[in-house]
Amino acid sequence: MSASTTPTQSTPDSSPTGAGDVASTVPAQAASAAPATSYEAKFRVWRGDAEGGDLKDFAVEVNEGEVVLDIIHRLQATQASDLAVRWNCKAGKCGSCSAEINGRPRLLCMTRMSTFTREETITVTPLRAFPVVRDLVTNVNFNYQKAREVPAFVPPPGVAAGEYRMQQVDVERSQEFRKCIECFLCQDTCHVVRDHEENKTSFAGPRFLMRVAELDMHPLDAAEETGLDRQTTAQDEHGLGYCNITKCCTEVCPEGIKITDNALIPLKERVADKKYDPLVWLGNKIRRRTTG
Ligand code: SF4
Ligand code: SF4
Ligand code: FES
Repeated sequence: MSASTTPTQSTPDSSPTGAGDVASTVPAQAASAAPATSYEAKFRVWRGDAEGGDLKDFAVEVNEGEVVLDIIHRLQATQASDLAVRWNCKAGKCGSCSAEINGRPRLLCMTRMSTFTREETITVTPLRAFPVVRDLVTNVNFNYQKAREVPAFVPPPGVAAGEYRMQQVDVERSQEFRKCIECFLCQDTCHVVRDHEENKTSFAGPRFLMRVAELDMHPLDAAEETGLDRQTTAQDEHGLGYCNITKCCTEVCPEGIKITDNALIPLKERVADKKYDPLVWLGNKIRRRTTG
């Protein structure tokens, strides 16, 4: 995920909402009459750093078709020029603008203002599961650390790069997982680490358990031939057993990936098969003997 923490970054004119460059449009709007559809929204934004902070109240202009990120940019441009927020694409694709809106993990750039009533106060806070750097920017290094702990794809022996062949039916499920934009909203919402900092060392989180599942389902992954048992490591090293399939991760995924149903539950089933099914156990034992 590429990201910028520059708090005064201007808004590119690539908005799906057509909102344009906030820094240049706000003074112009102030000079002319505001569009009839404009109104002032009540925003409560967390300001602070690793030492501590507080929620601050703002009233900010909202125009038709805008998203929460537009309003945060207008806040930067007009009232809080040092407000830190991370964003890049403003199109729901870079995964940078993750934060919590009214306590729910969401992308700022994909949350339309029209989903709120004009009367309600919209509270924007940083991701709760990760340490705050400043304002809405958190340190998501936990996720990069967990990514490094998942062993990479093991190429099949004797097949040259460029000669890999797979049936579409064999890759359909893992293709869904490749839609991940690494926004880490699922990591933030998962109660295993959200309320239990102490679990972070032994739990990879839904995004990276899904990565283990993807590799385990990969038709060409040759990990097992090198002695790497992805199912056992999912349980013993990446903390699959902590997951009690609440599906909260699936609910917040902006890509609509069915993390629990299509990755975590099948991975749990594979682990259970390996551990408790006597036929699978016997088959694996024989296979190990003949290949060993
Ligand atoms: S389903 Fe599992 S990984 Fe997803 S939020 Fe619930 S406990 Fe966490
Ligand atoms: S699985 Fe979904 S919620 Fe989790 S990091 Fe990827 S895109 Fe974000
Ligand atoms: S700015 Fe890229 S996902 Fe929101």
